[in-house]
Amino acid sequence: MPTNHRLLLATRPTGIPGPENFAADAKPARPPAAGEALLETVYLSVDPAMRSWMSESAAYRQRISPGEVMLGGGIARVLESRAEDFVPGDLVQARLGWQTHPTIPGRYLQKLDLTLGTVEDWIGPLGLSAVTAYFGLRDIGGLRPNDRVLVSAAAGGVGQIAVQIARIEGCRVVGIAGGAEKCAFVASELGADAAIDYKAEKNLSSAIARACPDGIDLYFDNVGGSTLDAALEHLRLNARVVLCGRISQTHAAEPYGVRNLGRLSAARGRMQGFLVFNYHERYDEARNWLAARLRDGSLRQRLHVLDGLEQAPVALGMLFRGENTGKLVIRLTSETGSG
Ligand SMILES: NC(=O)c1ccc[n+]([C@@H]2O[C@H](COP(=O)([O-])OP(=O)(O)OC[C@H]3O[C@@H](n4cnc5c(N)ncnc54)[C@H](OP(=O)(O)O)[C@@H]3O)[C@@H](O)[C@H]2O)c1
Repeated sequence: MPTNHRLLLATRPTGIPGPENFAADAKPARPPAAGEALLETVYLSVDPAMRSWMSESAAYRQRISPGEVMLGGGIARVLESRAEDFVPGDLVQARLGWQTHPTIPGRYLQKLDLTLGTVEDWIGPLGLSAVTAYFGLRDIGGLRPNDRVLVSAAAGGVGQIAVQIARIEGCRVVGIAGGAEKCAFVASELGADAAIDYKAEKNLSSAIARACPDGIDLYFDNVGGSTLDAALEHLRLNARVVLCGRISQTHAAEPYGVRNLGRLSAARGRMQGFLVFNYHERYDEARNWLAARLRDGSLRQRLHVLDGLEQAPVALGMLFRGENTGKLVIRLTSETGSG
C-alpha cells in the first residue's frame, strides 16, 4: 500500500490561515472496501470558501474540526478499484481532502470526460470556479449582449472566466484587480476593455467612472465591502448585481456597512447572491459551453500552480493576500503517473 500523506486541521485560524493551522501525518493508505476506490491525488483546488470551513461558525457546507483531514476538492487517478464503473487509471474528481492517497466510495466520484478537455482544463476552465462564473453571470446576472459589465477580483479563478464569458457574449467588460501586472493580464490576455488597479487608486468610484463612462448594467462582485459600494454608485437603469463572494470581508474586524443601496432603488436594479452547488444538476451544461469556447480558442485560463501537498497551507493564505494570478491549484503528481 502507498503511504497516504495528509494535512489535518490543527487549530482554527483567527486571521489569514497558514502552516501553523495544519499538522502533517503519514500512514499506509486504506485498502478499498467493496464499493470504494483507492486514489492518487493529481490536483487540489484552493478556494476562499475553505477558510470558512475552518471556522467554528462555518457559514455553509461542511464544518471541519481540529484533528480532521482538511477538506478540499480535486482530481485524482484511480489506483485500485472495488467500485463498479471505475478501473485503475481512470481520472476522477471528488472531494478528496488534503491527502495524497484517499480511499473514497465510488458514488462520490465523477469520472472526467476527457473529450471535453485535459486534466488541467478540468481543474481550471471546466472546474467549479469557471462553472461559478457561468451560472453567476447568466442565471443570476441575466447577461445580455452589449451589457456594460464590471467584474472584481478579475484576475482570479472565477473572475478571469467571468471577464471572458462577458467578452465572448459581446459585452463591454471592465475588470478590477490588485496591481499593474494583474491589470495587464486582465486587459491583454483576458481581453477586457479596461482594467482598474484598485490598489493604485485613491478613489475607486472615480476610477470606475473613468473606466465605465456609461455606467454598469451588470456588476459581478467577488469582493464585497467598499468595492461593492463604489460599484453601486454607477448602476444603470435595471442593473443587476451578482453577489458571488465577499473576500474583502473574510478577516474584517468589523463588517463593512454598505452605504449606497439607495442607488439600487434609483436604478430599479436587483442584487442577488448564489452558491454554485445549487446548480449541480446543470454542471454539464456549463462545461459543454466552456469546452466549446476552449476548442475555438476564445476562452483561456491561467493556472497558478504550486507543487507538493506541503504547499497547500501557504497557498490558502495567498488568496487572501492577493498573491495568486489565475486559478490557484496544488499539483501533487503528473497527469500520467506518479511524479
Ligand atoms: N458563490 C459561489 O458559489 C462561489 C464559488 C466559488 C468562489 N466564490 C467566490 O468568488 C470569489 C473569487 O474566488 P476565487 O476562488 O476565484 O479566488 P481568486 O479570485 O482566485 O483569489 C482571490 C482574490 O481576491 C482578491 N482579494 C483578496 N483579498 C481582497 C481584499 N481584501 N479586497 C479586494 N480583493 C481581495 C485577490 O485579488 P487582487 O489581487 O485582485 O485583490 C485574490 O487574488 C471569492 O469571493 C469566493 O468566495 C463564490
